[in-house]
Amino acid sequence: MLKIVVLGSGAGGGVPQWNCNCEVCAAARSGTGEVVPRTQSSIAVSADGERWTIFNCSPDIRQQVSDRAELWPANGHYRHTPIQSVVLTNADVDHLSGLLILREKQAYEVFATETVLDVIAENPIFNVLDPQFVSRHALAENKVTQVGEGLFVEPFLVPGKVALFNEERMLAEEDSLKIGEETENTIGLKIFSEDGDASFFYIPGCAMMTTPLAERLTGASLVMFDGTVWFDSEMVSGKLGAKTGQRMGHMSMSGERGSMAAFAPLGVERKVFIHINNSNRVLMESSPERAEADAAGWEIAYDGMTIELR
Ligand code: MLT
Ligand code: MN
Ligand code: ZN
Repeated sequence: MLKIVVLGSGAGGGVPQWNCNCEVCAAARSGTGEVVPRTQSSIAVSADGERWTIFNCSPDIRQQVSDRAELWPANGHYRHTPIQSVVLTNADVDHLSGLLILREKQAYEVFATETVLDVIAENPIFNVLDPQFVSRHALAENKVTQVGEGLFVEPFLVPGKVALFNEERMLAEEDSLKIGEETENTIGLKIFSEDGDASFFYIPGCAMMTTPLAERLTGASLVMFDGTVWFDSEMVSGKLGAKTGQRMGHMSMSGERGSMAAFAPLGVERKVFIHINNSNRVLMESSPERAEADAAGWEIAYDGMTIELR
């Protein structure tokens, strides 16, 4: 058994984003229901319904914990958390900065690749996570690792890029950002229960579908996948920014090289878009984009979405 709760289905900035008045953000503020507000990218997974692992830790984690009774301290303890561990798929600010909220001398474990652990290690602000309580563990490509009670992950590299705040340094050091290359900067995860009966894939950031990734995902019962943008240049044409989805390390949903086309032949039973940016019109319940995603068999994650795998 695996229980999955989507804590935050939005990409960095959330929906609405504090300084954005695009069509989607404005609709989210209007309260009409056309766009349901979303917090930033994170899921919680439990193999026993009691102890939880957080996958990616957004700056909204405080609100997300407050909103989910499963994640509250148990009765009879003054200090307690059902959160056993945090697993990171990259060092992007929307996935990492929530760790600063999960402080206060509470024991739990953090799992990430060496590359991402290095980002944490070289930023002294993360010393607020007292090393006496919070232990850090490396995830290695294709190495099955236990991350919680009865809960395992198999990490694999996916096309991505270094975190935005480290781009300039990487350019200075290596003269190239290697966007779309498979490095320890960005991983996907197969997440599964001890007996292996329940499993799914969590890939909130991916710059492109590769043949090995397509083979890995073929026939999966559930994939939660990067839904950042609908089309590559939507931030540019929406006058929201200068960057394309590709430049940010995200493949788009639509188009010949998009994720909907890439998944069409893979026979995945349940496909859920997650990490959805507020520029993406798929968030509008009555948009043609939403209808197209529906027709292609995709679900659009929302905060509080709960999935049980048996
Ligand atoms: C991303 O998903 O591309 C990043 O979260 C962007 C950011 O760092 O804000
Ligand atoms: Mn992000
Ligand atoms: Zn917006």
